[in-house]
Amino acid sequence: MTEFYSRSDMEKQGKWLANRVLKNFKHRRKLFKKQGTDAFRLYDWDIPEVRAVVDWYDGNLVVAEYVRQQTEGIPWLETVAGYVAEALGVAEDKVFLKKRQTRPGTWARRYERLDQSQHQVIVAEQGLRFIVNLRDYLDTGLFLDHRQTRAMVRDQARGKSILNLFAYTGSFTCYGAQGEATNSLTVDLSSKYIQWAQDNLALNELTAPQHQFLVADVLAFLDDAIADGRTWDLIILDPPSFSTRKNAFEFDIQRDHPWLLEKVQALLSAEGSLYFSTNHARFEMAPTVKGFKDISGQTVPPDFKSRRPHQCFLYQCKGTIS
Ligand SMILES: C[S@@+](CC[C@H](N)C(=O)[O-])C[C@H]1O[C@@H](n2cnc3c(N)ncnc32)[C@H](O)[C@@H]1O
Repeated sequence: MTEFYSRSDMEKQGKWLANRVLKNFKHRRKLFKKQGTDAFRLYDWDIPEVRAVVDWYDGNLVVAEYVRQQTEGIPWLETVAGYVAEALGVAEDKVFLKKRQTRPGTWARRYERLDQSQHQVIVAEQGLRFIVNLRDYLDTGLFLDHRQTRAMVRDQARGKSILNLFAYTGSFTCYGAQGEATNSLTVDLSSKYIQWAQDNLALNELTAPQHQFLVADVLAFLDDAIADGRTWDLIILDPPSFSTRKNAFEFDIQRDHPWLLEKVQALLSAEGSLYFSTNHARFEMAPTVKGFKDISGQTVPPDFKSRRPHQCFLYQCKGTIS
């Protein structure tokens, strides 16, 4: 039988969390400020009982609980978030609470809208700015764990054509454009996210005719692009773990990655590079897939080191960057 946490359990856990967050905040705020970044993780579920993550978005706190039976119907999240907000001196209206599921089958709802408040905040990251929405969706519009991968793309973008697949709010595209990519194509199924990606590019004054956007199912797009003989120098492939949405192909990254990678490889130019990332916790690259180097050691940032947020692989056609 499930044992629910008592009020004193919740208070004890709230104090643990607040202490940990405060300690991390003091150190990380300085570290990230030097990089021009004001959005970072403050707590990454490293105390087993405190199944939560806490993120800082320029003065706002997002506290997300990974739901479990012990806290069903009790104000666990509200209580621990209250302790964190108090420790950092953050006002109640700048604290955003989320409940995340770890169970498979709940993934399809991940990108659905939770509210309609259109609450937007602009955050800085490594010299760029991004619109985040802390209230209306489970995810905010910026995946903080790919900060270093985005910087890698910027460093390599000059003179390259970029294809950003499953692009979400186009953060990789912004880095590529700032890194002087010659052109880019940003593809996502959601017109809402494509608009958001265009807004992010505009916010950074990077809008230009050579940076194109497409609302499309990536699978259909891949077949068309292969048939048309199109190629790109730098491809970013960061698909959801599962995609079961109506009118979109049913997709399971563990089952489908071998054929997906093969199709995307067909779109690489002679010296092209492909960044493939997944946040599927138990993902294993199939032994039939060759030539991909696991670069997660370089892409996972210090504020995410306690749990593995993603796995990232780099495939390079012959003769490219080392
Ligand atoms: C994991 S997010 C990508 C994160 C993004 N690369 C970033 O770093 O910000 C997944 C995205 O895939 C999109 N998506 C899901 N199924 C799709 C499909 N069949 N074709 C195109 N986009 C799809 C969703 O709309 C969502 O924006």
